[in-house]
Amino acid sequence: MIEERDVAPSGRKAQVAIRSEPPRAISEIASETIQRIRSGLKEFDEILGGGLVPGSVVLIGGEPGIGKSTLLLQVAEYYAKEAKTVLYVSGEESASQIALRSQRLGIQNENLLVVAETLLEQIQNHIEKFTPGIVVLDSIQTIYSASLESQPGSVGQLRECAYQIISLAKAKNIAVFLVGHVTKDGSIAGPKLLEHMVDVVLYFEDSSSHSFRLLRTMKNRFGSTHEVGIFEMGNEGLKPVVNPSEFFLSERPRATPGSVVAASLEGTRPILVEVQALVASSSLALPRRTAIGIDPNRVSVLVAILDKRVGLHLFDQDVYVNIAGGLRLTEPAIDLAVVGALLSSFTGKTVPKESMFFGEVGLGGEVRSVPKAEMRLKEALRVGMKCAYVPKRVAAELEEISELKLVPIEHVSALKNLIG
Ligand code: TYD
Ligand code: MG
Repeated sequence: MIEERDVAPSGRKAQVAIRSEPPRAISEIASETIQRIRSGLKEFDEILGGGLVPGSVVLIGGEPGIGKSTLLLQVAEYYAKEAKTVLYVSGEESASQIALRSQRLGIQNENLLVVAETLLEQIQNHIEKFTPGIVVLDSIQTIYSASLESQPGSVGQLRECAYQIISLAKAKNIAVFLVGHVTKDGSIAGPKLLEHMVDVVLYFEDSSSHSFRLLRTMKNRFGSTHEVGIFEMGNEGLKPVVNPSEFFLSERPRATPGSVVAASLEGTRPILVEVQALVASSSLALPRRTAIGIDPNRVSVLVAILDKRVGLHLFDQDVYVNIAGGLRLTEPAIDLAVVGALLSSFTGKTVPKESMFFGEVGLGGEVRSVPKAEMRLKEALRVGMKCAYVPKRVAAELEEISELKLVPIEHVSALKNLIG
């Protein structure tokens, strides 16, 4: 049962009649160039697609204690420094608790207003009175409207509060950050509708092994999705990791078989990561296939391709594949690196020093080209790679301009000759 607010038929009509522009040809509508608000925290701006769009609503989800409040308080100060009035509304902590935290983080700014409030109507009053450019609501699940009788966090309350806040944001051109709790399975608590209503959905998540945090774009009406920002939680709050590729490769073993560098694309930005494989003889009737940071089904497919197309029989071997550093990769472009790592671990031979791999592997064992090859090569060059194993077509197209040595791979069997 979901509680709905009783709206008189006349009220409903008024709601519909707010905007009554006639339809126009799309070519006639002047596309206004939106002035994005920059925070001065480059990593955060990139996640949003180049800055915050005024009037947009951004939902940030994440596990408790992951650092949502810390991140938003820090971001709020960045915006406040740019002379934007920011209203930070907390429904979870008292104003003095927030002050304590901001002291720890060294945050002091007159443009940053803080209030502990959970009543929607009161929050609307504060917004009317102080006309902030940016509002942070921590969290949407704690806010409730007096017009409904159900508990804060119930579906009816969530929908009503989100609707009112979004309408206000659009009407007054205020950018709003909403913090959203997540359920046990990791999705934002409440109706999926919430994610449809807002403009941007970000997830803040832990990496499996380190103290760093990944901020991912799941939806962005004003930019690309699957952007990822990497932050490290320290004593002075969250710090962006400026050079993810160097960060992920820094602890890479140099002369160990099974370690291969892959060029992956997270959103619009290329990141080099280490793909590790361990192939070890198994005593099990059904050998293990374990994959961390990559889809286990994909690993099974690649193992089958190696068996059928290369004649590398792994049926009596346990196979472990791991993306070092706790990133999760979903792109088929890392296939070639996984195959390289498996071959290298099986044969016990290392891949050439300072080499990097990318390419999608088809079921026939053919290596297919992938998008943004040039960007991947540039990133590899930047971190000091010397040579790249790439699909044949990529090598043909970029041979002239690439400063890296390109080794064209048409079929995975060619890798066997190079490594094994
Ligand atoms: P918090 O932002 O309160 O998480 P959320 O709002 O997502 O629930 O994060 C709190 C955690 O971060 C807590 O475990 C303490 C830690 N932390 C630090 O390690 N360093 C810091 O400077 C701060 C402010 C918090
Ligand atoms: Mg919090």
